[in-house]
Amino acid sequence: MNPIFLLLFAILCSGGLDSAFVDGISTIKPGEELKSDAYLVSEGGNFTLGFFTIEETSYSYIGIWYTNDDQQSKVWVANRNSPISDNSSVLTVDSTTGILKIIRGGNTILNISDQVTGNNVTATLEDTGNFVLTDWVEKRTLWQSFDHPTDTLLPGMKLGFNSATGKSWSLTSWLSASVPASGAFTLSWEPNQDSGELVMHRRGERYWTSGTLKDQTFKYMSALNMGMYFNLSYTSTNDEKYFTFNRINGSLWMLRLDSDGQIAEGPSGLRFGPFKFCYGYESDDGCVTSELPHCRRRNDNFTQKRVYFLPNITTRQDDDNSSLSFIDCMERCWNECNCVAFNVYSNGTGCITWTGRSEYKEDDVNIDPLYLLLRDPKSSKGKCIFLVICNS
Ligand SMILES: *[C@@H]1O[C@H](CO)[C@@H](O)[C@H](O)[C@H]1NC(C)=O
Ligand SMILES: *[C@@H]1O[C@H](CO)[C@@H](O)[C@H](O)[C@H]1NC(C)=O
Ligand SMILES: *[C@@H]1O[C@H](CO)[C@@H](O)[C@H](O)[C@H]1NC(C)=O
Ligand SMILES: *[C@@H]1O[C@H](CO)[C@@H](O)[C@H](O)[C@H]1NC(C)=O
Ligand SMILES: *[C@@H]1O[C@H](CO)[C@@H](O)[C@H](O)[C@H]1NC(C)=O
Ligand SMILES: *[C@@H]1O[C@H](CO)[C@@H](O)[C@H](O)[C@H]1NC(C)=O
Ligand SMILES: *[C@@H]1O[C@H](CO)[C@@H](O)[C@H](O)[C@H]1NC(C)=O
Ligand SMILES: *[C@@H]1O[C@H](CO)[C@@H](O)[C@H](O)[C@H]1NC(C)=O
Ligand SMILES: *[C@@H]1O[C@H](CO)[C@@H](O)[C@H](O)[C@H]1NC(C)=O
Ligand SMILES: *[C@@H]1O[C@H](CO)[C@@H](O)[C@H](O)[C@H]1NC(C)=O
Repeated sequence: MNPIFLLLFAILCSGGLDSAFVDGISTIKPGEELKSDAYLVSEGGNFTLGFFTIEETSYSYIGIWYTNDDQQSKVWVANRNSPISDNSSVLTVDSTTGILKIIRGGNTILNISDQVTGNNVTATLEDTGNFVLTDWVEKRTLWQSFDHPTDTLLPGMKLGFNSATGKSWSLTSWLSASVPASGAFTLSWEPNQDSGELVMHRRGERYWTSGTLKDQTFKYMSALNMGMYFNLSYTSTNDEKYFTFNRINGSLWMLRLDSDGQIAEGPSGLRFGPFKFCYGYESDDGCVTSELPHCRRRNDNFTQKRVYFLPNITTRQDDDNSSLSFIDCMERCWNECNCVAFNVYSNGTGCITWTGRSEYKEDDVNIDPLYLLLRDPKSSKGKCIFLVICNS
C-alpha cells in the first residue's frame, strides 16, 4: 500500500483517531486514541505504525513496518510479551501522566513508556522509523522506540551500551516466526581495542560471535559482501560504545535476528550468518565451543527428514509449554541421551520429542518432516576401539 492510500484509509475510517486530532497523522497527542483499524504514517511516508494480527494465533500487536514493504516485516513491536486478544484496545498518550500506553475500556493494559511527565507531550512516528515521545515545551525526548529494540536494527539505531547511563541496546529474537514474544536469542555489541564484534547469546549463554568488524565486514559473516548493502560503522567514546549502519542506497534495509539464531536482512530474505546451528563442537566459524553431553560426539547433528517411528520402540512425548522455541527443543533433545528426534508444533513453539531406539521408516510425502539425530559414522565408538587395538 502506498502512503497516500494509508492516509486516506486512516482518515476515511474516522473514529480511528479521536476527533481531537488536527495536525498530521504521524502524531498522537494526550487523550487522542489510535484504534485497531487506524495507522500512523511518518511525515515522508517511510514508515507505518498500527495494530496487526497474527493469523496463526489471532493475537494482535502494535508494530512499525516500512510502508513500502509488501511483507510488512515488523521492525518494532510495542507489546511483544503482552499480546492483545480483542479489537477494542487503543494506543493513547495519557492526558495527565503523559505515559504512552495501550488501554481497553478505560483500563491500562500496558504502559509502553515508563516516566510520568505531565501532558506537554506528543508521540510521533518519525521518518527514520523511530517512535518518539517528546516534551514539546522543553524540546526533550522522553522515550523512543530506538531505545527499546525488538529483533530488528534499522539504519541509525544503536547496538551497544552507554556506561554512564547504564543504558544498553540489544536485539532479542521472536520466539518463533508467528510468536513475537521474547525468544531464545539475543544479539549485542562487544567492543574490542580496534573495533568490536557482534555476540549472540542463547538463553544467556554465549553461542556465536561474528568476529571483528573490519573493512565493512565481519570475519564470520563474509559469505555475502555486507558492504554492498550496508555502510557498517562503530563508535567508541568514553561513555558510549555501539555499532550502527547506514543505508547505501534507497532500499528497505534492516538487520534482523531471526528466531532460529540467523542474522538476516528482513524483506529480501538475504541471510548473513551464521548459516547453521552451533552444537558446541565447532570452533572455526564463530560458534562458541562448549562441553558436549557424554553421549554426543563431534559431527552428530539434526537433519530434517520425513520419517515415522515404530511403536513400542520409540516413544513420543509432547510438551505444549508455549515458552519453548525450536532451539530450546533442539537443545533438550541434544542433552537428553535417549532422545532420537524432535519437532515443534506448527506455531513454532512447544516440544515434541521421540526417545528410545532410532528405528524408523522413511516416507516421502505423507508426513511432516521432523528433526532426526544423525550420528557421525566416522566418530563412532567402534572405530575408537579398532584404533586402540591397532595401535597396541
Ligand atoms: C471487533 O470484533 C467484533 C467481533 O469479532 C466485530 O463484530 C467488530 O466489527 C470488530 N470491530 C472492528 C473495529 O474491527
Ligand atoms: C502505568 O503507569 C502508571 C503511572 O506510573 C501506574 O500508576 C500504573 O500502575 C501502571 N500500569 C500498569 C498496568 O503497569
Ligand atoms: C507545560 O507547559 C507549560 C508552558 O507551556 C508549563 O507552564 C507547565 O508547567 C508544563 N507542565 C508540565 C507538567 O511540565
Ligand atoms: C525515507 O525513504 C527514502 C527512500 O527510501 C530515503 O531516501 C530517506 O533517506 C528516508 N528518510 C529517512 C529519514 O530515513
Ligand atoms: C543497491 O542495492 C542493490 C540491491 O537492491 C544492490 O544490488 C546494489 O549493489 C546496491 N548499490 C550499491 C551502489 O551498492
Ligand atoms: C558510512 O558512514 C560513515 C559514518 O556514518 C560516513 O562518514 C561515510 O561517508 C559513509 N560511507 C558511505 C559509502 O556511505
Ligand atoms: C506395544 O505395547 C503395548 C503395551 O504397552 C501392547 O499392548 C502392544 O501389543 C504392543 N505392540 C506391539 C506391536 O508390540
Ligand atoms: C515453560 O518453559 C519455560 C522455559 O524453559 C520455563 O521457564 C517454565 O517454567 C515452563 N513452564 C512450565 C509450566 O513448565
Ligand atoms: C502453539 O500450538 C500449541 C498446540 O497447538 C498450543 O498448545 C499453544 O498454545 C500454541 N502457542 C501459542 C503461543 O499460540
Ligand atoms: C550432519 O551430519 C552428516 C553426517 O555426519 C553430514 O553428512 C551432514 O552434512 C550434516 N548435516 C548438517 C546440516 O550439518
